[in-house]
Amino acid sequence: MEEFRTLVLYRSQHGTTARYANWIADALNADVMEASKKNFNDWSYRMTRYDMVIFGGNINEKGINGIKDYKAAISKERISNYAFFCVGSYPASEETVEAHIIDNFKENERPKAKLFYFRGRLDFIGLSWLEKKIMGGLMKAIEKKYEEDRTPVESEILEAYYDDVDWSDKSYIQPLVDYVKSFMTPEQLAYMEPIAAERVAERTRIEEEEEAAWEEEMKRREALYYENEAQKEKDRLKKMSKKQRQYYLWKKAQNEGLESVEELKKEFGVEFEEDIETASEIESLDDYSEHEDAADDIQEEEK
Ligand SMILES: Cc1cc2nc3c(=O)[nH]c(=O)nc-3n(C[C@H](O)[C@H](O)[C@H](O)COP(=O)(O)O)c2cc1C
Repeated sequence: MEEFRTLVLYRSQHGTTARYANWIADALNADVMEASKKNFNDWSYRMTRYDMVIFGGNINEKGINGIKDYKAAISKERISNYAFFCVGSYPASEETVEAHIIDNFKENERPKAKLFYFRGRLDFIGLSWLEKKIMGGLMKAIEKKYEEDRTPVESEILEAYYDDVDWSDKSYIQPLVDYVKSFMTPEQLAYMEPIAAERVAERTRIEEEEEAAWEEEMKRREALYYENEAQKEKDRLKKMSKKQRQYYLWKKAQNEGLESVEELKKEFGVEFEEDIETASEIESLDDYSEHEDAADDIQEEEK
């Protein structure tokens, strides 16, 4: 039996398409390679040694990244078994796939254009200056619309634009994996599947480890942030007059819903002059607002 050989080629600007390419390669025990412009001859020639070639590209303002080179290589090397996948931020649907086929393939190319679409990631912070400008224009157009006139997808994308949202999911590749498997003989499939399962399990283990390490790192950063904030608050209190300090802590106790201010007094090492039993009593003090304003001014000065 000849082993069924699959090659996954991809172009990715921010890593999501590369991630999908590796998931696909694992699930099919395929080889995977970045198909850059520079190494066109290398990957184009390499394709001829495979039974199936899968081309992947992220979607940007020009369409599917790499599509022109992919089509040129297919025609140059006379490749007959191939499929495409693309990664974008819009939700997957038949209409989305249809629109990308129309945008990226001429009418005579469409009958052979087997395209799969996977949802990716929108991380505004990681974009280049130019990408931010392009995306900014797109988002402004959505923002201009009244909220009730925006489609649910537009609202979702707009929300994601201000945050890092990752919609990518390994399970989305299944239809593409099944499509490639349909070209294999039962023997080829039986040979491929256990090796692929091992590769999938290994990557899952690595990804889980990476995620756990990332979560630990986030916790560490958060703890550091709160430590810094606490230190800043202590320094701020040192700058206040005795009276301001009292008001500041009473207010803090009130904001945090504490029954008494005793804990805070201990924590900040503050002695009080006036004998006020509960946080709510501060509101009734004649000169309360005056002291509160002074305490707020100190906070403002720091900013
Ligand atoms: C400049 C720019 C234009 C984009 N245009 C589209 C688009 O037209 N349709 C879409 O679904 N996603 C669009 N996206 C979203 C990307 O395709 C998505 O973030 C994808 O996950 C990027 O893949 P990568 O991480 O492999 O580069 C655009 C992103 C950028 C930065």
